[in-house]
This record gives sequence, structure tokens and C-alpha cells, in this order.
Amino acid sequence: MTVTLVPPARPTAAAPAPGCPDPLGVLGVPGQVNLDHAASAPCARAAADAVAELLPWYASVHRGAGALSQRCTLAYERARQTVGDFFGARADDHVVFTRNTTDALNLLARALPAGTTVVTFAGEHHANLLPWPRGSVRLPVPESPAAAVRSLDAALAELRRGGVSGPPVLVAVTAASNVTGERWPVAELARAARRHGARIVVDAAQLAPHAPVDVADLDVDYLAVSGHKLYAPFGAGVLLGRADWLDDALPYLAGGGATGHVGAATHDVRWATGPARHEGGTPNLLGAVALAAVCTALAEADRDALHAHEQRLLTRLRDGLAALPDVVELRTFAPDAPRVGIVSFVLAGRDSAEVAGYLAREHGIGVRDGLFCAHPLARRLLAEAAARSGRDDLPPTALRASLGLGSTQADVDRLLAALAALR
Ligand SMILES: Cc1ncc(COP(=O)(O)O)c(C=O)c1O
Repeated sequence: MTVTLVPPARPTAAAPAPGCPDPLGVLGVPGQVNLDHAASAPCARAAADAVAELLPWYASVHRGAGALSQRCTLAYERARQTVGDFFGARADDHVVFTRNTTDALNLLARALPAGTTVVTFAGEHHANLLPWPRGSVRLPVPESPAAAVRSLDAALAELRRGGVSGPPVLVAVTAASNVTGERWPVAELARAARRHGARIVVDAAQLAPHAPVDVADLDVDYLAVSGHKLYAPFGAGVLLGRADWLDDALPYLAGGGATGHVGAATHDVRWATGPARHEGGTPNLLGAVALAAVCTALAEADRDALHAHEQRLLTRLRDGLAALPDVVELRTFAPDAPRVGIVSFVLAGRDSAEVAGYLAREHGIGVRDGLFCAHPLARRLLAEAAARSGRDDLPPTALRASLGLGSTQADVDRLLAALAALR
């Protein structure tokens, strides 16, 4: 199978110099239309190049005196610095490499001080619903971003009735929904958390690929992201945030690399501080380097231009879907609420898995179908879509089309034409 660069289809800050491939061009296969970026984005040229350059040097990290190992250790720690800078890490933050967002949020869940109450919304991805301890508070899905802030404010006021010096409270929210693409008012939610002496973690798995995310600007305590959704396969994610809870907690993975000293007695262990405490075992060098390379390329790109291009495609896609008979879109907020390039919808009277299969088989289009690892939200939105549209023949699962770097108007039109042909 030939693997090739999908021709750049979106504006960049400056055209790449002749002979220099665009670092944000993405790899793909001719003829295949990938409209499933929200699941896993394709590999950016920057990530592929960084990995190819390092591969001859591939050796241990933090474990060898040889030149290869030294270079790999340096590359790994430089990647940490680059990723931290990209997301606005503060002086007292740790940048811990993980497998993905799920891993990052599970790590934070393990590092919570005893007695911490976690407050989430029922619209979260499972990765931000399931890791939290018993006794967590799950707020109902709000009908607007403003309602989300009001609901959080009220819940925190209730939890803090005895004063802000009580047991810790952590708010855990998504920055953009993987079901609807709708953006959540993270900065306002962070302000509400601050007012009540709570901390906040943001699941930026879906926002980071579409818009700049800066923990200092947003004034959030922790951030979780996945490299594979950010054009950097090779399996690295990140938990970034306040050092104190992370340094006080037992290691997420006990083992080599997470220790300062291990004595002969069974429990004679001094654990490392810093990110190493939670990165036991040999780290994923290539994943970290790939992610850092994409962060560098995105930092140099014109994100406003990328955003404007994606929004044009998104509008075309949503307008096109709305014009098709029997298509009903899923949404939590008002139709014009800000969102990233993700649309979930159903075709009344059609099984979503069959439609996804048809799109792949007959048109070479990849979309996602199902409940998108956000079962409570997806089921609720399907019920609301049925009530709003007055249709009693909506399927029990949905379809999702998601855009990203390399998505073109032709991709969108091909999907719309394929759906229109399904009559
Ligand atoms: C909003 C959101 N959070 C968390 C995750 C989990 O990401 P990962 O599977 O990379 O751990 C996803 C994945 O789809 C997501 O969309």
C-alpha cells in the first residue's frame, strides 16, 4: 500500500520553503477520506520526521552512559520542556508523560489527597467519569455554557458550606466534547473553582488538536492530552500540572526509574520526586519526541488561520447535513454555540453501524459510529434529538464526522454526496 502526504489543503502561517515539506502536512492513503480525527488523528510530517531522525540513535533513556543513550535522554527531557512550554506550564508544574488522556486522568485520580471530592458533569467522556473515587459528584448535563458555570458554582458552594479550608475538591471538565465538538467554558469554570478554593483538571483531548490551550492563561491546575489525537502517534499522552499532589502521592507505577533508593528491607524505598516518580519503567521516547515535534510545528503555525479554515469546513458540513432529509444532529447547547470540527448525527430509520459500513465500503470514507465512549451523554442527546425532531425512528447509536489538519472541502462534499445517495 502506498503511503503518501495528503496535499496541504489548508492555509499555514507561511508557505513552506520550496523543497521543505510542510511540517503540519499529514500522512494518509490516497483515495481514503479520513473524517475520524476525533478518534485518532493522522500522523503529522513533523512527528514522522522527528521519529525517523532519532531512530538510528534509539537507545535507553536515563539508563546509559553511551552516546546513544545520552542523546536519547536529552531528546526525552527536551521533549518534556517543549510540551510543557506549548501548554503554558508554570514553574511549579510537572509534565508527566503517560500513555494517553485516560492514563493521565487515572494517574491524577491515584494522586488525589485522601478525602478529595471530585466534581464532574455527566457529559464527560468515560476517561473523565470513571477514574474518580466513590463519593464524586456528577452534575447533570447543562443546557448552556452559562448554566454549566451556575451549576458548578452552586455545587461548590454546597460542598464548601463549612468553609474553603475543608477537604480538597477537584473539578474535572472537558474543554471540548468528543460527541458534539461543543466547547466548554473552561476559564469561567476555573474561576468558579477558584472562588470556592477548589482545583480544576481539564480534559483537553479534543480541544488541543483544534485550538491553543494554555494552563496559565486558563488558570487551571491540571491538563490531560493524548498525542495520538494531536497528530503524534507512537502513544504518548501528558498529565501536566501542580507538583505538590503528584510529589506527595505514591508512584502510579512502582518500579525502576521511579525510585531514589531501594534498600535490602522489603519496604526500604525512597521514591523519586518530579515526573520520574510516576513514570516507572522505560519511558516511551518516540512518543514523547513525536508529540514535542508537533507542538513545535503548531507553535510556529498560524492557529487563527487553521481555525478559520476548519470552521468554514464545519459550517459547510453542518449546513449540508441539515439540508439532507432524515438527518438529525446531536447537540447539548444552542446550535450556534462554539465548537471544534466534530459533528454527531443520526439518519432517521437507518442503523448507524450500517451507514458507517456503507460509507467505508462504497465511498472510502471513515467515520465513527456508536456512543463514543460517552454513553450517558450520547444516550441523552439521542433522546433529546428524537424529542426535538418529533421522529420515533431514530437509531440507538449515532455517527460522528470529525475534521482536522488535511481535511478538505472535497472530503466534506464527498461525505454529503454519499449520504444523499443513501435513499
Ligand atoms: C474528550 C476525551 N477525553 C478523553 C479521551 C480518551 O483519550 P485516550 O483514548 O487517548 O485515552 C477521549 C478519546 O476519545 C476524548 O475524546
